[in-house]
Amino acid sequence: MSQPTGSGESAHGLADGNTIPMLGLGVWQVENERECVDAVRWALEAGYRHIDTAQAYGNEESVGMGIRESGVPREEIFVTTKFFPRRRDPVVELEGSLGRLGLEFVDLYIVHWPAGGPTWAWPGMERTRELDYARSIGVSNFAVGEIDDLLQEAQQPPVVNQVLFNPFAYRKRLFEACAANDIVLEAYSPLGTGRHLDDPAVAQIADAHGRTPAQVLLRWGIQHGVPQIPKSTHQPRIVENAQVFDFELSEEDMQTLDELDQTGGTDCAREDKWW
Ligand code: A2P
Repeated sequence: MSQPTGSGESAHGLADGNTIPMLGLGVWQVENERECVDAVRWALEAGYRHIDTAQAYGNEESVGMGIRESGVPREEIFVTTKFFPRRRDPVVELEGSLGRLGLEFVDLYIVHWPAGGPTWAWPGMERTRELDYARSIGVSNFAVGEIDDLLQEAQQPPVVNQVLFNPFAYRKRLFEACAANDIVLEAYSPLGTGRHLDDPAVAQIADAHGRTPAQVLLRWGIQHGVPQIPKSTHQPRIVENAQVFDFELSEEDMQTLDELDQTGGTDCAREDKWW
């Protein structure tokens, strides 16, 4: 897989002039040890140039180690971490992340969820960009109303909203509102944390293309222009999930998958809020 960070299908432009690779490795629930180091290294060896972690995951040290072990130059890799919003200060917390990652900056720093409201953390997020600790700033798990409130107050608008998004959680109104505000919607749990891999409609489309269900779910998101961060700790699956730039779903396939949505095209980011 080649994934240039410039233009074309493998990367998406951001409103601040940066670009985000369409495919990344997510490391939620990956142990901070060898498991995470290996997953990150395997992904980079397989051509991924985008790794997504978070302060809450507790594995930033291993992400940094995996990057170093891979030998891939830092400037080729897009690294995201997320502000843990039960803490007070995004600047102080990012300084901690950079120390754990062993990096001088992250490419994207996002508010992990709108704990205590959507706006209070934003001035600190903007400050991380001014300090060159973060190249781009954004949010995660923000619904349309929360984005609207944030845009009222932001000096620098968020450029990404990372949400649970896949054919079963299509969230069309949220997706459209993000696009209208120049915010790239990015998909976490693109495989439904693995739950959607057994769906018969997905399997049928996969069979017709000689592909796997995981590849079909990821391809659906990519054709919608949504960056995908599937998680796996198994090398063959990490490789498999990267083979998504060499086939195309038809309009009919896309429509069949769109219709699997169980959210009613919601403008919400989560059905079950933990905050
Ligand atoms: P594992 O980490 O054991 O490989 P999501 O990205 O939606 O959160 O889904 C992640 C889940 O899907 C994990 O349980 C992961 O398992 C599993 N998974 C990831 N890629 C594949 C794949 N290509 N085939 C089967 N299962 C996969």
